[in-house]
Amino acid sequence: MTDIILFGAPGAGKGTQGKNLSEKYRIPQISTGDILRANVKNKTALGLKAKEFMDKGALVSDDVVVGMVIDRIKEPDCEKGFLLDGFPRNIRQADVLDATIKAMGRKIDCVIGIEVERKELVRRLGGRRVCRKCGDNYHTIFSPPINMGICDKCGSEIYQREDDKEDTIEARLKVYEEETFPLVDYYKKKALYVAIDGIGGVDQITGAIVKAIESHK
Ligand code: AP5
Ligand code: MG
Repeated sequence: MTDIILFGAPGAGKGTQGKNLSEKYRIPQISTGDILRANVKNKTALGLKAKEFMDKGALVSDDVVVGMVIDRIKEPDCEKGFLLDGFPRNIRQADVLDATIKAMGRKIDCVIGIEVERKELVRRLGGRRVCRKCGDNYHTIFSPPINMGICDKCGSEIYQREDDKEDTIEARLKVYEEETFPLVDYYKKKALYVAIDGIGGVDQITGAIVKAIESHK
């Protein structure tokens, strides 16, 4: 069983690394941000509730997110493990996760903390573009698509996330620093936190994460 938390500030590379790790370990990547965005897109009751918080860079209420994750990790495809991306984001979420995992007779193997300095986070988020269909990531300067606005992989439209506008990026980073960063200490105390340098090539960082996961098993 491989139960992993991918931790890091907005733009640290949780989504990017999660994709590689999910393929390697054949376990689902559970991104609360992706699940919420799918709900917003489909205009579900949950999505309508979440949208106003997401658009201003605030956290969606714990009641909404916690229930969503608890249900998800009990699904059959999580039997061999899961990768949590973007959850937990505050102490309360972490406490509920802890209790749930224990009740399931499982344990978190490690918390992979992808560490990237603030200036670089702002650069990454400001230029990020995402494919509407396959979710592939681009960057206007560092990894632009071959044809402007069109996904290299599937030919669909590329868009800018609503929360990747300048003001919202600042708000998200502030929320991270105030509400989420305290989890670094929380998981250090449980001897689960592993710091990973998030600067460098994507595959090189994946290699460092795999090494860390293997040594914690
Ligand atoms: P969420 O979708 O989780 O956003 P986030 O945490 O802000 O993180 P991002 O997805 O922006 O960044 P990432 O770390 O995945 O980086 P990525 O790989 O894309 O949450 C969105 C919102 O949903 C929240 O604000 C909140 O409202 C709500 N929400 C979600 N979870 C919640 C929860 N648990 N509780 C309450 N509310 C919740 O990479 C970023 C960019 O950098 C890309 O362009 C990528 O190509 C590039 N990049 C990646 N790696 C590298 C590299 N090594 N070198 C250069 N560029 C790189
Ligand atoms: Mg992400």
